[in-house]
Parts: sequence; structure tokens; C-alpha cells
Amino acid sequence: MKAIVIDQYGPAEVLTIETQSAPSAVQLGSQELLIEVHATSVTTADWRFRAAAFPLGMRLLGRLVAGLFRPRNRLTGREFSGRVVAVGSLVNRFQPGDEVFGAHGGGVNAERIIVPESAALAKKPANLSHAEAAALPFGAITSVTFLRDMAKIQPGERVLIVGASGGVGVYAVQIAKQLGAHVTAICSGGKFDLVRSLGADELIDYTEADPRDAGLTWDVIIDPVGKSRFRDYRHLLRAGGRHVFIEAGPREIWQSIVTPWMRGPTVLFGISEENSKTMENLAALVEAGELAPVIGHRLPMTEVVEAHRIVDRRRRRGAVILDWPAASAPSNKTIPLRRAG
Ligand SMILES: NC(=O)c1ccc[n+]([C@@H]2O[C@H](COP(=O)([O-])OP(=O)(O)OC[C@H]3O[C@@H](n4cnc5c(N)ncnc54)[C@H](OP(=O)(O)O)[C@@H]3O)[C@@H](O)[C@H]2O)c1
Repeated sequence: MKAIVIDQYGPAEVLTIETQSAPSAVQLGSQELLIEVHATSVTTADWRFRAAAFPLGMRLLGRLVAGLFRPRNRLTGREFSGRVVAVGSLVNRFQPGDEVFGAHGGGVNAERIIVPESAALAKKPANLSHAEAAALPFGAITSVTFLRDMAKIQPGERVLIVGASGGVGVYAVQIAKQLGAHVTAICSGGKFDLVRSLGADELIDYTEADPRDAGLTWDVIIDPVGKSRFRDYRHLLRAGGRHVFIEAGPREIWQSIVTPWMRGPTVLFGISEENSKTMENLAALVEAGELAPVIGHRLPMTEVVEAHRIVDRRRRRGAVILDWPAASAPSNKTIPLRRAG
């Protein structure tokens, strides 16, 4: 089988496609699944792990997790959708033939993978293709963790979302709307139509105007791209306001420790929690028409280097998808963005 591997940190070109022997059912542990992968996505997490581009303040921790001098895990990729080929003797949530999607830190850019049943996995919603399902886990799990569980957004609250057209932002807008919030979204003007279609109530083009001059105030600010400083926005946060950093440096991490003990708005930061319960929540939201994948680029797996280059630029729309050729007809064209339901 083919797999995308990495032997050193660096630019997108360090990625190579390698022929390996495919894992088989006889290698399965009692609580593992053998999965045929149909589509995966390239996320900012894949960029960080490929380039050792960990945020300031997390560089040592990142290297300790990923490998001090070179990547500890050669197999790349974290989000995927595919079909269960075989299951271990104690697996009870899935059976051969099930179509599943999820996140797995052990690497998913291979035609076949072995994944523990306890990984962040759920049955793929029937109304999504594999490419669409692979577009969801990273951005949607992150949005649910930070908006619902951490910021605890309430119906009627006013929420500002920075980077609303990116890998996390397109799902943050949808999750905020699903929680009943009024959403102001920041992105470049060329992406207004996309972000409005996801439910944003107000849009600000950061290339044309400073969002602080819009005459608006918010209960919650969500920032996945580290482009808003707490010092610059705290006067625009209402009583009980929360400034939530998904991308944070040492300053924001420090503020998240001290501001809960002080009067006024609070800074929040944390780590996204990938688990099967959240994946099942996401599948239910998709089936209810309340959450839809957004795919900006879709390429065959052989173009993984180009896919990483797109993500590296940090101007993408939603997800960047890679298909294995044997799976659903691959394309190197941008496919139309759409919402389910
Ligand atoms: N803490 C955790 O557990 C956790 C979990 C998941 C992710 N993360 C982090 O969260 C981040 C996720 O980012 P992502 O995937 O959403 O990034 P991305 O896709 O690269 O974000 C690009 C977005 O940023 C916008 N943008 C660029 N410059 C901007 C500016 N000056 N002002 C406002 N918006 C601007 C772009 O808008 P235009 O293209 O319209 O210009 C686009 O919408 C990563 O850093 C990742 O490491 C953290």
C-alpha cells in the first residue's frame, strides 16, 4: 500500500509517498479496527507537526511530544474518513463494512490503518461523502471544545469570530449559530459570501477596517489565528466577557491563568479534546442539518506537498482534502462549497 511519511522536520517537500506492506486483520489487537482510508485532510496541526512550527511557549513541549530532533511518528495525517475492514474480538461499537470518520494522532495518511476503538471515531453520516466527512473533525471538534465547553456560549450572546473563513473559523461560525449566538465574523472581503452562507450576521473585512472601530461590543471573542490582543479588545467585551484564544502564545497563556482571579473579562485557552462522544455529537449535528463541511481544496493523495503548501499560507477556505485514488474520484479542482440540509 501507499503511505505518506516524514523523516525530518521541514517544508512541505520533506513529505514522501512510500510503498509499505499493508496492515492486515491478523495484526489486529482485540480492541482495534482495521480501516481502509478513503479521504484525509491537511490541517494546521499537520503543518505544525511537519515543520515543528509550534507556537512560541510550546516549542519544547511540542518537540517532546512530536520528537526532539526528528518526527517520532513517520506516518502523517490526523483526520480521516473510511470503511472498517475488520474488527478485533472485543470491539462492539463497529463492525466490518461500517463507514467511519474521525481523528487519530497515530497517522492516517495510508491506504489502510489500524486504530483503537477508543479513538475519536463515529459512524459517518449517510448524507456525507468520505471527502466531506474528512473535512469535519479538526475544525469542528476544536469549535465544539472552545465555544460550547470552554466559553459556554449562551443563546443571544454576541460573539466575534476572528479568521472566520479558515480551517477552524468556518466551523466556529456554524457552532456559534447552533448555540444561538449573534455572530460577527472577521475575514477578507472575498470570503464574505462563504462566511455569510454559514450563518454570520455581520462581517468585517480586516484588510479594509479595524474591527475595533465598528462600534460593536461582544460577550465572547473567539480567535483561532492569534490576531486579536486582549489588551486591545478588553474594552469591547461586555460584563462577563470571555476572550478565547485557540492559537495562543506565552502572553495569552499567562493571561488565561491570572484573569479568572481578577475583575473584568477573562482570557481562556486550552487544548482541544478529541473523543468519540464529540464525534458522535458532530455526526448528529450534520444529520440534523445544523453543521456542514466546508471544502476549499480537494486533491489526490499524490499531491500532498501542494496540499501542505496551501495550508502553510494560512489563507485557505475551510478544509484541504486528500483522496486516495482507489476511493472516491479524486480531483485537483476546487469543489463547490455547500451546507448540508
Ligand atoms: N489549542 C488547541 O487545542 C488547538 C486545536 C486546534 C487548532 N489549534 C490552533 O488553532 C489554529 C487553527 O487555525 P486555522 O486552521 O483556523 O488556521 P487557518 O485556516 O490558517 O486560518 C486562516 C484564517 O485566518 C484569517 N486571517 C489571516 N490573517 C488575518 C488577520 N490579520 N486578521 C484576521 N483574520 C486573519 C484568514 O482570512 P482570509 O483568508 O479571509 O484573509 C483565514 O480565515 C492553529 O494555530 C492551530 O494550531 C489549537
